[in-house]
Amino acid sequence: MKIAPSILSADFARLGEEVGRVHGEADLLHVDVMDGHFVPNLTIGPPVVASLRPQTDLFLDCHLMVDNPAVLLDDFAKAGADRCIVHVELGDPRPLFDRMRALGMGVGLVLNPPTPVDDVLPFLDDIDLLLVMSVNPGWGGQSFIPEVLDKVRVVRKEIDARGLPVEIEIDGGIKAATAPLAAEAGCDILVAGSAVFHADDPAAAAREIRDAAWPDR
Ligand code: DX5
Ligand code: ZN
Repeated sequence: MKIAPSILSADFARLGEEVGRVHGEADLLHVDVMDGHFVPNLTIGPPVVASLRPQTDLFLDCHLMVDNPAVLLDDFAKAGADRCIVHVELGDPRPLFDRMRALGMGVGLVLNPPTPVDDVLPFLDDIDLLLVMSVNPGWGGQSFIPEVLDKVRVVRKEIDARGLPVEIEIDGGIKAATAPLAAEAGCDILVAGSAVFHADDPAAAAREIRDAAWPDR
């Protein structure tokens, strides 16, 4: 039951300050890395993670929307990333998992809305986190795609049946109105970008999402 603000919607010119505004309500930080190829948008990379690292004790989770994550993993580890999340659409992720483990990072795997859930099931034993995209990646502020919740339910059942220590995260269009749907389907971690950083009070917005998702916590 965790909230992961996505810094994609923060003011990049004041990133340290922006992150400070969610301390106390954020359980981890979600860092959206886009290369202009895997997705059309272009964002940030290891140098920004390195600048952020001394500004916060929060777990830095790097969502790699890039064509060639293999060439970036060492730099992300050096920059202080705690985990990298790679897309299953790129092909066999096992060599990437091995490199992440060797570098001491956590291992995440992510699937896009059109990608079938069967594509990730063979890897559940090898990962710490399964991220289900609830928008097509590229930009913040898009609308939640409720159909992906069926995939969350399948993965939840599989993880529980096999007793695996894998967390399920969801990313895209999460706000107070959609958070309860994601929580009910079995998500452990909610990523929220625009709903948090475009709010006047980002910490209050994160708390509102948490309270909506898990009212009995
Ligand atoms: C989308 C990114 C998301 C994005 C979510 O490509 O992967 O992490 O920041 O933004 P919101 O919460 O605004 O949909
Ligand atoms: Zn993301």
